[in-house]
Amino acid sequence: MSGLLVTLLICSSAVARQVNISVDAGCSVGVLPPVARFFGADEPNEATTPDGELLLKHLGDLGPHQTYFRTHNLLTTCDPPGDTTPRLKWGCTDAYTEDSEGNPIYNWTIVDAIFDTYLERNVRPYVQIGFTPKVLASDPEPYTFLFNATNTYNIIFTGWSHVPTSWQKWGELVYQWVKHEVELRGADELNSWYWEVWNEPNIGYWNGTQEQYFTLYDYAVANVRRALPTARVGGPEVAGGPDGNWLGLFLDHTINGTNNATGGEGSSLDFISFHAKGLPTYTNATDTVPGHLSMNVSASLQNVRDAFAVIASYPSQKKKPVIIGEDDPDGCAACQSQAYSYRNGLIFPSYTAVAFSRDIDLAARYDINLEGTLTWAFEFQDTPYFDGFRVLATRGIDKPIMNVFRMFGKLTGDRIVANSSAQLSLDAILADSVRSEPDVGVLAAFNQTESKLAVMIWNYHDDALPKPDAHITLDVSGLEDRWQGCQSANLTHYRIGPTHSNSYTRWQAMGSPQDPSAAQVAELKAAGMLQTLDHPRQVRVEHGRVELEFALPIHAISLLILQQ
Ligand SMILES: *[C@@H]1O[C@H](CO)[C@@H](O)[C@H](O)[C@H]1NC(C)=O
Ligand SMILES: *[C@@H]1O[C@H](CO)[C@@H](O)[C@H](O)[C@H]1NC(C)=O
Ligand SMILES: *[C@@H]1O[C@H](CO)[C@@H](O)[C@H](O)[C@H]1NC(C)=O
Ligand SMILES: *[C@@H]1O[C@H](CO)[C@@H](O)[C@H](O)[C@H]1NC(C)=O
Ligand SMILES: *[C@@H]1O[C@H](CO)[C@@H](O)[C@H](O)[C@H]1NC(C)=O
Ligand SMILES: *[C@@H]1O[C@H](CO)[C@@H](O)[C@H](O)[C@H]1NC(C)=O
Ligand SMILES: *[C@@H]1O[C@H](CO)[C@@H](O)[C@H](O)[C@H]1NC(C)=O
Ligand SMILES: *[C@@H]1O[C@H](CO)[C@@H](O)[C@H](O)[C@H]1NC(C)=O
Ligand SMILES: *[C@@H]1O[C@H](CO)[C@@H](O)[C@H](O)[C@H]1NC(C)=O
Ligand SMILES: *[C@@H]1O[C@H](CO)[C@@H](O)[C@H](O)[C@H]1NC(C)=O
Ligand SMILES: *[C@@H]1O[C@H](CO)[C@@H](O)[C@H](O)[C@H]1NC(C)=O
Repeated sequence: MSGLLVTLLICSSAVARQVNISVDAGCSVGVLPPVARFFGADEPNEATTPDGELLLKHLGDLGPHQTYFRTHNLLTTCDPPGDTTPRLKWGCTDAYTEDSEGNPIYNWTIVDAIFDTYLERNVRPYVQIGFTPKVLASDPEPYTFLFNATNTYNIIFTGWSHVPTSWQKWGELVYQWVKHEVELRGADELNSWYWEVWNEPNIGYWNGTQEQYFTLYDYAVANVRRALPTARVGGPEVAGGPDGNWLGLFLDHTINGTNNATGGEGSSLDFISFHAKGLPTYTNATDTVPGHLSMNVSASLQNVRDAFAVIASYPSQKKKPVIIGEDDPDGCAACQSQAYSYRNGLIFPSYTAVAFSRDIDLAARYDINLEGTLTWAFEFQDTPYFDGFRVLATRGIDKPIMNVFRMFGKLTGDRIVANSSAQLSLDAILADSVRSEPDVGVLAAFNQTESKLAVMIWNYHDDALPKPDAHITLDVSGLEDRWQGCQSANLTHYRIGPTHSNSYTRWQAMGSPQDPSAAQVAELKAAGMLQTLDHPRQVRVEHGRVELEFALPIHAISLLILQQ
């Protein structure tokens, strides 16, 4: 019996899939855009909770390129007044109220506290101008709601989503806000921020027509610019890629539509934003296959492709920076479901490596200036450990997903030619997602300043089912010119895997405690950081080549750093 078991184990490891990966360090194809440094959440007030502050610190530390944070509800009215207790899909600042005569009262106390918390941790705002303060809402009641992750999504679209009763008052609010920020922080600081108008105005977040959104946009842009002529303003953060011709009509408006704020033609647009979402599903157990979730990365990539195609068709707009203002595996961070159970483990980071690297490939194909791929996930203070929301950290413990952003933060410089014998083509993944063989893909960069080569390799499949390891043979060439014939280099091999950079499996190994001891919490926090597979070591560089071999489990990610 045990003999048979040993044989089976040997056989199963023997079926590891051989994968050849080659990287030509001498051959660069332009700067690798540092896209994976934008984050966001519905709930602005989570930023100023203890766990929110800690997570912002970790986001600010991700890499050399600036991290940004986008949040809804920065102009939403608290209900009851002054109550900023974080709640799912809700947040408020009381920035705008009126006295009994209808005169505006601006109060930036809560907005300031939120932005101070970002800036003190090296995170800058990607400011979302929204939503409608209660006294300005054309249909204010009901204004608030209690979302509890089991009720239907539509209950959230209350008074804040309604069209302002006065465009003048709306415009003046925007002006006062930007003026306040400039006075407080200076124009130089403000020039590094982004301002964008609303969220997903093509669905329930905006209870108005598309024409009315254009007017909202025109008043916002005109008034941001009135306070700071050099500010960056963009939009429209449309849901579902271009959503048919919604994005195109918006671009038309910015080019030659009637500007309802100025009476002129067109509206200024500094960057273009849209949203892309995957579509995970859950399959019940059958006689042969256990119940499992399956991701669908093609759903998200199709959104990206379709939006890029629209943008690329506008000669005057196609060179503008593009930010995928939400770029996620599914549509609801504050919802829980079996199909969303990817969120604690390795599937989330490996999916993100696949999606973001293909976003970069799509940008190259359509000649799009992709500046960011924003992950809509943060944290919820005091919810149970690993409870299945789409969050980056749970109770101050970073989840595996955070470590793919730490890896991206080390992947800087020029993109280097790299290929893998098991990487799916862009067209195959757009059409069929990753449902047959796993995608064992590679993304590599050489940073001249640091004389450093970084190679990220993932082993990804849509299904949350066991699969054989990939046995990787990595052949790096082209180092002779980079390193002037040096014969050795330092290798650091980072790993996100079943037993590395993985607080979730560590927590499960403890028996999934909801009341862990202080020592256990410390251990989990350490397990949540990016770890190496083995000790950094010297490797030989012969004729400008380095060859390495290692096993990569399904849904694991390696980042190899070779440095002089
Ligand atoms: C990997 O490379 C080796 C040596 O060049 C070759 O024999 C093998 O067929 C390759 N395997 C794959 C999957 O490309
Ligand atoms: C502004 O808002 C803060 C926070 O809600 C509050 O403490 C303060 O009293 C308000 N200031 C004024 C002048 O109303
Ligand atoms: C969630 O809210 C709905 C009302 O929208 C309510 O019917 C339901 O009982 C609530 N569930 C929980 C667990 O509180
Ligand atoms: C606007 O809100 C009303 C309820 O106040 C709702 O009946 C209507 O469907 C909403 N319209 C849009 C376009 O969201
Ligand atoms: C914007 O201006 C156009 C042209 O003057 C007008 O037809 C349209 O109704 C206006 N839209 C709004 C929302 O005011
Ligand atoms: C605006 O320009 C588009 C082409 O980009 C054209 O199809 C449309 O007719 C123009 N609209 C107006 C109002 O001039
Ligand atoms: C899967 O099983 C659940 C009950 O466990 C059931 O409610 C659901 O309808 C099933 N789904 C399918 C697609 O059969
Ligand atoms: C993934 O989503 C796309 C877009 O909704 C859909 O067309 C496709 O069938 C899905 N793929 C799989 C494998 O479920
Ligand atoms: C290379 O690394 C340095 C130091 O981390 C960083 O400042 C620089 O921006 C990186 N270069 C590129 C092109 O990303
Ligand atoms: C990678 O591409 C180069 C040149 O296109 C080719 O010679 C090499 O065989 C490819 N390697 C793999 C592993 O596909
Ligand atoms: C490379 O490793 C050696 C020996 O461990 C160490 O002395 C040196 O500082 C390392 N160099 C870099 C650039 O990390």
